[in-house]
Amino acid sequence: MRVDDFRLMFGKQELVPIVIGGMGVDISTASLALEAARLGGIGHLSDAMIKTVTDRRFNTKYVRDKILKYKAQAASMDKSEVKFDLGYLTEATKLHVSKAMEAKRGAGMIFVNCMEKLTMNAPKETLRVRLRAALDAGIDGITLAAGLHLGSFQLIEDHPRFRHAFLGVIVSSLRALQLFLRKTASCNRLPDYVVVEGPLAGGHLGFGMDWAKYDLATIVAEIKAWMTAQKINIPLIPAGGIFTGSDAVNFLQNGASAVQVATRFTISKECGLPEDVKQEYFRANEGDIEVNQISPTGYPMRMLKSSPAIGSGLRPNCEAYGYLLDGNGRCAYIDAYNREAAANPGVARVTVTDKTCLCTQMRNFDLWTCGHYTYRLKDTTRQLEDGTYLLPSAEHIFKDYQFSTDNKIVVPA
Ligand SMILES: Cc1cc2nc3c(=O)[nH]c(=O)nc-3n(C[C@H](O)[C@H](O)[C@H](O)COP(=O)(O)O)c2cc1C
Repeated sequence: MRVDDFRLMFGKQELVPIVIGGMGVDISTASLALEAARLGGIGHLSDAMIKTVTDRRFNTKYVRDKILKYKAQAASMDKSEVKFDLGYLTEATKLHVSKAMEAKRGAGMIFVNCMEKLTMNAPKETLRVRLRAALDAGIDGITLAAGLHLGSFQLIEDHPRFRHAFLGVIVSSLRALQLFLRKTASCNRLPDYVVVEGPLAGGHLGFGMDWAKYDLATIVAEIKAWMTAQKINIPLIPAGGIFTGSDAVNFLQNGASAVQVATRFTISKECGLPEDVKQEYFRANEGDIEVNQISPTGYPMRMLKSSPAIGSGLRPNCEAYGYLLDGNGRCAYIDAYNREAAANPGVARVTVTDKTCLCTQMRNFDLWTCGHYTYRLKDTTRQLEDGTYLLPSAEHIFKDYQFSTDNKIVVPA
């Protein structure tokens, strides 16, 4: 059996059951998502740090304007006044989404990954704007991710596309799914799909530091059994460590409707990581990857141990970004930085090991988050004479998942 023997059915719509997961900040680029859609699957944009992304892609000046507006706060560690302009947030989201939707070809779809842990110093207001602007701009679907806000459906309940766009959630346990369904019951609308993300995924993990005790197949089976008992029929989409077409087939044969994958695509030509960082991913060995707690979100995160972000003591940069401010101007990195700055008076660049300035580091591609199986990426391509690895196209990787059998990975010619 191969992945192509299966189809993801959304009502009458038939898709190749391969979803490329969202990877912020602009690691899962529009080009990557467009390839997935062209090939009949689903690709994700990410709306993480949207203003920075549109500045880089479309030459807008949102970040510069925000820095100018909040210049006075730069010297202060009180960031409670540093807010996002909701009008600009709408504009940026619409720009990012509509450009991708206009360019879309093929039978697949483009969704946006909405990291709800980006509380943006006004959690509810900013989330409402992000979700509504993406719907306005014609996004096919929204995947609610990390930090799942239990009231998200209510924020868009009165939007004309609320019942037509595809809305999904990412959970890592049955309990999280039950909680979400209970809280949204009043909307009379189930999610259209549930991504079940296990402990081997990249980015933030929905587990504690005991993540290694958990196993994706077990969690998927548990959720599947509960949904069957409740007569709830929503496509289940496992994610995390699905590295070959055969891995995917195993899940599809056991009741999954599609798989969500990401790590294999981080080194594709279309992926947003800089070329030298892609080479770091290729070179990584198993011992070079760790799950640590430096993300101020409070979730464990998997990354390469050589990430420049680890230990870096940058001044908090919330006037420019501030995506993790909690609504009261607080972020765990600000506290960690202040502690080190106070303990090391006169030191120009302190070292902060327990937390990182996630916004700045992700923006600069200096936090190399990755999936558990990143160390196998070198086996998915050819090494060139100069020692670097050839970057496969997203199409090559997508088709490898779609058509491979017997755990084989076809290396690009
Ligand atoms: C570099 C990278 C960045 C990621 N960023 C996000 C993100 O911003 N939001 C999110 O919900 N998931 C994120 N993920 C998780 C993926 O969307 C996906 O669910 C998961 O990594 C799939 O497992 P795999 O990488 O083993 O294929 C990220 C994964 C990687 C590898």
